[in-house]
Amino acid sequence: MERQQVTLLQILISLSLHLISLSFALNHFFIPESDELFSECPNKPGVSFVDKMADLSLLSLKKDVDGAVNISGNITMKWDVEHLNRVAVEVSVHKFEGGTWKPTVFKGGDTDFCNSFFEKNTIYYPYSTKHVINKQQIKDKCITTPETVLVLEPYILKILINYAVPLTPGRHKAVILFSAFEKSGVKLERDICLEIVGDIVNI
Ligand SMILES: *[C@@H]1O[C@H](CO)[C@@H](O)[C@H](O)[C@H]1NC(C)=O
Ligand SMILES: *[C@@H]1O[C@H](CO)[C@@H](O)[C@H](O)[C@H]1NC(C)=O
Repeated sequence: MERQQVTLLQILISLSLHLISLSFALNHFFIPESDELFSECPNKPGVSFVDKMADLSLLSLKKDVDGAVNISGNITMKWDVEHLNRVAVEVSVHKFEGGTWKPTVFKGGDTDFCNSFFEKNTIYYPYSTKHVINKQQIKDKCITTPETVLVLEPYILKILINYAVPLTPGRHKAVILFSAFEKSGVKLERDICLEIVGDIVNI
């Protein structure tokens, strides 16, 4: 279970920056509903959408009929936080059943996103950070330095779900919440929430 959660978390964290390309043995496929991939989290007062964190206007997302997304372009950070703030991310997966969103067992997080995201020896490096072609220049800036530009090489995002992950076909969403903290531990009121809604289908 531990390992499955880590795998899914990596998938979702990577997704949150449009930075994924997986190819290991899998048998479920996630087809995002929106061409923009991300949508706003409903019912979260005081929490902003991804547009407060990054300018995505130079990013190109093209969804194929089969749900694969071609990604290229640049992401310009604009989150109003301090460079040395710690970033935490929480991810949870919900399934739409009987007319409501119900939590699944998938809930996880990373209390120091910037510390692990640019680590070369993480297992997700080849699938995510790899596509940021200027990572050497920006690795100390992470996502906490406004005007940092993440330059992406063109790649195809296929959201595949490991056969070992107990998610069944149907409508799902991943809810991704970023928070920033001062060195003292005080949480800033700058939360960013986004959702990725789509269908899990068998392939
Ligand atoms: C995505 O990219 C592939 C390979 O570059 C190309 O064959 C395909 O037509 C592209 N699809 C879209 C929707 O742009
Ligand atoms: C992204 O940034 C790079 C480096 O500054 C630049 O060469 C490229 O034209 C930019 N791409 C887009 C789509 O703006």
